[in-house]
Amino acid sequence: MKSNTLRVGLIGVGGVASYVHHPGFSRIPGVEIAAICDTDTDLLAKRKTAWGVKAAFTDPDALLREARPDAVVIAAPNHLHRALILKAFAAGCHVLCEKPLGMNLDETVKVYRAAKASGRRHMMAFTYRFVPGMSYLRHLVGQGALGQVRHARFQRLQDWGDDEIGWRQYRARAGMGELGDMGIHRIDYAEDLLGPIRAVCASLKQCVPRDRTREGRPCPPQDVEDWAAWIAEFESGATGVFEMGKLTKGRGPGGDHDVAELNGSAASAAYQLHTPHQILFAQRLRPYEARPVPPEFLKRPGSPRDPVEGDPQQAFRFDQAWEFVSAIREGRDCEPSFWHGMRAQAVAEAILRAARERRWVGVPSTPR
Ligand SMILES: NC(=O)c1ccc[n+]([C@@H]2O[C@H](COP(=O)([O-])OP(=O)(O)OC[C@H]3O[C@@H](n4cnc5c(N)ncnc54)[C@H](O)[C@@H]3O)[C@@H](O)[C@H]2O)c1
Repeated sequence: MKSNTLRVGLIGVGGVASYVHHPGFSRIPGVEIAAICDTDTDLLAKRKTAWGVKAAFTDPDALLREARPDAVVIAAPNHLHRALILKAFAAGCHVLCEKPLGMNLDETVKVYRAAKASGRRHMMAFTYRFVPGMSYLRHLVGQGALGQVRHARFQRLQDWGDDEIGWRQYRARAGMGELGDMGIHRIDYAEDLLGPIRAVCASLKQCVPRDRTREGRPCPPQDVEDWAAWIAEFESGATGVFEMGKLTKGRGPGGDHDVAELNGSAASAAYQLHTPHQILFAQRLRPYEARPVPPEFLKRPGSPRDPVEGDPQQAFRFDQAWEFVSAIREGRDCEPSFWHGMRAQAVAEAILRAARERRWVGVPSTPR
């Protein structure tokens, strides 16, 4: 008889696997982290011991073949995602993948089609959907508490310093710089709040070479942007102003400046990542006041996470694993799915083109 335990494999056990995926999956009853995979043998050994995982592999093919997990999480550098996703579906796995699905829209569309054809569950790790303040803001917009949203601003401003930042600074491994790293999440949650983006104009900038490691050794310079800004017209008639930057002194360390502020005909409201359990809300001629997030929005229904446990700026991320597991158990689509990953990529590519050609660019349609 097949066990009811859902066996999960983690492919890539670096940063995000350690503070999002492992704590997320390891707290869900009936889920076993059955195998892990990483090409860094020292890190793999460390994780195996620390996490008490039985099987560890340096080759993803061996993990799929020998551990035969029900589901995998892909958290390796970006250029590897597409091939790993296709292998995982071929092995019959459900897949939760970090962004992006592919290195360009064409690849991303093909991955989405493969996901649909697989009959497996597919989920995009758009983590910020799970911030309690974001869930509550979405609810208020849906209820019409803001009236017609006229304009909005979305900012992610951090201070990563001028030194080398690993694979993220090379187009061949990352695909995009700040736009793909931080911007893509804001595209996703802006569309989740306000509906599809119709057209964009944009500007991207590389400010520093990043040709020195933290230890001061020379390294190949970066070839991606570390600042990105765009204006978006939504189909609803709303307009959004977006700004993302990795070199914003005063906005770090901790990287917590993440703001979505919506201005509607009836009220304004703002989500801020550094106060994830409250939002700001104001009606005409009233200053903003802090509104606590009601208990039903503090975590996803049924999630085993205690909303008061741990650092609230981190712990909400664990609900992502709960959504993936719940969708598998309930036989429904994940939210957000690979469709949302493809959709955000379509907007990001319109932004790249708008910046390159210095003009407004329409976002292509992305049929489900
Ligand atoms: N959703 C989010 O909020 C969020 C946050 C951080 C990172 N990310 C995404 O997660 C992914 C990983 O980012 P990170 O910050 O954890 O990077 P990282 O460099 O810390 O970890 C990546 C790991 O993948 C391993 N790896 C490299 N090649 C591999 C291969 N062929 N097979 C298996 N493992 C391999 C590396 O050794 C490393 O340990 C990226 O796609 C990134 O965009 C998303």
